[in-house]
Formats: sequence, C-alpha cells, structure tokens
Amino acid sequence: MLVDVAWLPPAEAPRERTCVVIDVLRATSCVATLLARGLEAIYPVATIEEALAARGALGSGVLLCGERNSLPPPGFDFGNSPSEFAAADLRRWHAAVMATTNGTPALVACVEAPLVLAAAPLNARATVEACWSAGHDVLVVCSGRRGVRATDDSLAAALLVRRLVARGATPEPRALEAMALLDAVPGSLASAFRLTEHGRALVALGFERDLELCAREDVYAKAAVLRVEGDRPVLRAGPG
Ligand code: MLT
Repeated sequence: MLVDVAWLPPAEAPRERTCVVIDVLRATSCVATLLARGLEAIYPVATIEEALAARGALGSGVLLCGERNSLPPPGFDFGNSPSEFAAADLRRWHAAVMATTNGTPALVACVEAPLVLAAAPLNARATVEACWSAGHDVLVVCSGRRGVRATDDSLAAALLVRRLVARGATPEPRALEAMALLDAVPGSLASAFRLTEHGRALVALGFERDLELCAREDVYAKAAVLRVEGDRPVLRAGPG
C-alpha cells in the first residue's frame, strides 16, 4: 500500500485511492467527536445556504453546526468547537448538518473516491485500520486554509502517515516530507498547533481548549466514513 499527501484538496478526487481528509482545526475533529457522542449521521455541505436548505429538508432532530471565521453563522445551533461538542447535551439531536470554511468543502470534493474518511488524531487508529481493511493506496488530503497549505493539517497528516507506515505502508515523497515536518516538532502536537496561524487565531477567539483536544490521539474508537445516500454525502461511524 502506497501513501501520499495532498497539501490541499485535489481538483478531482482520485478514483483508485482511499482519501483520508483532514481539517484538524477543527472540522474533522468535530466530526469524530459528534459521531462518538452518538449522532448517527453528519451531512457535510460546502455553503451556509446549502446547510440551511439541507436542515429544512432533513426535518427535526437535525442540528446545524459550522463556522464562518471560526464563529457560528447566524441561525446555527452550534459553532465548530470539538470541546463544546464533547460537553454539550445532544439528546435532542440524531444528526447534524455541518458547513465549515475549509473542512466540509474538502470532504465533499473527495466524495468520488472509493473510500473517504474524515480523520483527526482523535480517531487515528480506527482510520488506519479502515484504510488497511480497504486495501487501496491512500491519499491523505489536507483541507488547508482558504486555498493555502496549513501547517496544522500538515502535522496531523504526518501523524496519520506515520501510523500507516508503521502498519506497513510505503511513503511517497510528500508523505516523507510530512513525516520530516512532524519529526522536527520540538514539543507536543498541541504546542505546535498553538504556533500555527490558525491555532493563534483560535486562541485569540478563546478556543485554546480545542487545540488541546484536537491534538489528542485515539480518543474515539470509530472511523468516520463518507458515503453518498440519495444525493447527499453523509458521514457515519465506520469500523473501529
Ligand atoms: C474550517 O473548516 O475551515 C475550520 O474547521 C475552521 C474552524 O476552525 O472553525
């Protein structure tokens, strides 16, 4: 099994590789948290308008979450904070529609791949096992930030690559580059996130706890698998 990294979502999803999509700060960390908290389904959409329309069509018990500039858009039930989701009372909800700036568009962009996983350190082990069971070569897709490579995603991608290589995968050049980046981090992953542009912006908005949570590994036992049901991409808890 080969493993490569895309620093930004590809224009066209690879038809022969598993896509492991990462927006560690914070969309895919929220996906892992919401599924672990018992939500059955998360519908990722690219825009606020699509989110409002999808919630209307899906009916009651579906929460609306996401962000613009890291804060909840008007009319949304929640923002995009995994630490808020870890503690929130979610008993009223069975599903979520999620619209974020970079993470959910990256997921939607990869939907044609044979297997798409929403990944974070939080569900790293389960993600690696799901890749291994599928057996395809892997492309770890970083969501980036407004079309520019993001260091937080590169570091989280490296963590997934390192795990896949330890499992027996062969790293391609960008996977090696990612691992070298992670090897050069002097302290913890959380402290490295704090030094990134996105991490600094989140700390300034009061989301420091999210950086700690997003850096934690193997907290959740299930992978997050993206499929198309009807005409909607939907994430559900997969094998773990
Ligand atoms: C995104 O999708 O751009 C992020 O998850 C933004 C955020 O930190 O809320």
